[in-house]
Amino acid sequence: MSRVPAVELTPSVGRPVDVVIVGLAAASGKDVLIGLPDDMSKSLAKAYGTDVMTVAASLGASSKPGTTVLLPAPAGRRVIVTGLGDIDVSPEQVRRAAGGALRVAAGLPGSQSLTVAVSFDAVGPQVIQGVTEGAILGAYTFRADGSKPGVGTINVVSSSHKAEARHAVDAGVCVAKAVCQARDWVNEAPNVLYPESFATALKDYGKAHRLAVEVWDDKALERDGFGGILAVGGGSARKPRLVKATYAPRGAKRHLALVGKGITFDSGGLSLKSHENMANMKDDMSGAASVMTAAAAIADLGLKVKVTAYGCLAENLPSGSAFRPDDVLTMYNKLTVENANSDAEGRLVLADGLALAAEEKPDVVVDVATLTGACVTALGERVAGLMSRDDATVDRVLDAAETAGELFWQLPIPEETRGKLDSAVADLKSSADRAGGALTAAAFLADFVPETVPWAHLDIAGPAFNEHAPYDYVPAGATGMSIRTLVALATSLAG
Ligand code: BES
Ligand code: MN
Ligand code: ZN
Repeated sequence: MSRVPAVELTPSVGRPVDVVIVGLAAASGKDVLIGLPDDMSKSLAKAYGTDVMTVAASLGASSKPGTTVLLPAPAGRRVIVTGLGDIDVSPEQVRRAAGGALRVAAGLPGSQSLTVAVSFDAVGPQVIQGVTEGAILGAYTFRADGSKPGVGTINVVSSSHKAEARHAVDAGVCVAKAVCQARDWVNEAPNVLYPESFATALKDYGKAHRLAVEVWDDKALERDGFGGILAVGGGSARKPRLVKATYAPRGAKRHLALVGKGITFDSGGLSLKSHENMANMKDDMSGAASVMTAAAAIADLGLKVKVTAYGCLAENLPSGSAFRPDDVLTMYNKLTVENANSDAEGRLVLADGLALAAEEKPDVVVDVATLTGACVTALGERVAGLMSRDDATVDRVLDAAETAGELFWQLPIPEETRGKLDSAVADLKSSADRAGGALTAAAFLADFVPETVPWAHLDIAGPAFNEHAPYDYVPAGATGMSIRTLVALATSLAG
């Protein structure tokens, strides 16, 4: 995995640090500096011949979120001033600010790995965890090259030294590590990460995180009748896999099942995508990466909740052995599906995974998928879609997302949508016209989850992969979006 910096909770900035990150917050209409130690403030003012705030403001520093300014550093230690927004900071505000500032720090010239202090006067476990997560996530680079210094150590500065604060740092490290691992897998080239190699990586990863991992190879998939996964994977020389990871701690009263779409590359199959639409389709296994890393984080945190995570892994390619539009597939739950479009492959692999996951009658099942371009059209690139049949599950997931600082928005599954999937030759067809494509996909999946199992569908097609410039703690490329929400959901279920 890409190297994750060591994180320490420190009562003050400390001496041997290379970079100090401080905040600028708006308090009753005025911008105030947060977290700059008195001695540094004095020595900088002396060197500048004026106070630090005047210099910072002249360089464009402001409390506006997203502004990061590097101050001249006559004293050796470099100072980054970053906008925190309103002084009454939320966990997500500090997560974003720490992320943006760490990205600047990680890009500084130099030869040795840096020690960076994040000094925001953080108090309260949520804010401390937010700073920790944002700092690690902002420092992330895919396969950092050794010539760049990078960030070796992060000091999270907080006057609170209670066990609670220490736990908050540990929890933040746990979650951020999971997110970084998912980003690594998603960023990996699809000729390197394909169903078999991904399954092997998941096996090793599971072992390292106390998860029991079971893998179905193509023969086992045939034996057990996973018609959706087999059809989608049929066009590739790289055979499909199904991976189940289980965390079953003693004393767990509830069971969360997670199902992830793991298309290691989506060409569209015989319904081939245009080259523009095919770019970055290595990200189509983001759902599987999310559910597996979330399960590991939940295990690392020792949450008292049972988790089963399923990765439905296949590569969608056109070839003489590819599944055709018009094919009728028999799925794991014995429903037959008319394949309407080989590019609607995600719902087919998820259908098999959901049907299997539901057999154990979990308290909640959540699937995570880069499922539809329609969801990106509806909600844009930073907001994920949430669809469910019941309001209690919607509320649960939205509460978790709020706690985690991730953006989800509910889309409906209107009653009449299922009618669009009626088929003359099978129980249902896999897709319909363009209108409301995200909703239709959800209506399809619903047929594979018994009504009695509470279920939520997360469409992360937009936020999973950032095709633009990095911002806050979000790098270019894989983002790891949804993992924090899944961990928060498990936390709420653990009670
Ligand atoms: N993997 C794509 C969805 C996607 C699009 C993810 C853009 C990330 C960015 C999915 O398999 C797909 O191709 N969906 C089709 C469904 C259609 C054929 C019913 C789509 O959205 O066009
Ligand atoms: Mn597709
Ligand atoms: Zn896809």
